[in-house]
Amino acid sequence: MSEKKNNQVSRRQFLNYTLTGVGGFMGAAMVAPMVGMAVDPLLQAEGSSDFIYVMDVDEITKTPQRKSFTIEQQDGWYESDVEKTAWIYRDDNDEILALSPICTHLGCVVSWEGGDHDNEFFCPCHNGRYDSNGVNIANTPPTAPLPAYNYRVEEGKLYLGKAEPRGGA
Ligand code: FES
Repeated sequence: MSEKKNNQVSRRQFLNYTLTGVGGFMGAAMVAPMVGMAVDPLLQAEGSSDFIYVMDVDEITKTPQRKSFTIEQQDGWYESDVEKTAWIYRDDNDEILALSPICTHLGCVVSWEGGDHDNEFFCPCHNGRYDSNGVNIANTPPTAPLPAYNYRVEEGKLYLGKAEPRGGA
């Protein structure tokens, strides 16, 4: 008989279990959306909207053209418009190149054929030089090529994504 009594749940225990269960469920229902909002910006994958239209492909020439475009940048929960620039042209193999103008030495802006250097990119800050493919020239301050933008071509239009480093010595 006492064994039977041990298996029974008292009214107090039943209320404790029920309130704990309901309370836990309600707590989880309130906290889950907050956790979702908190980590959502960190989980955002790079999507097609991260590629921005810059110019028509048939406007791309052998001579680098400087083009500016604006991207929406999400930094955690802070969203802002950031202006980017690229040197866009076709290389000797007729491949499209879109190079960042940011010098890999200390971050100044390079120009095409600046400082009387024909067929090169030139950085005026410390006389940095890059060849026509944006590769740093030995014995000048930059130690890596200019970063290249990822790009897509769709229906004759050029879209640029992120600029990626291209290694270096
Ligand atoms: S920042 Fe370009 S050479 Fe120094």
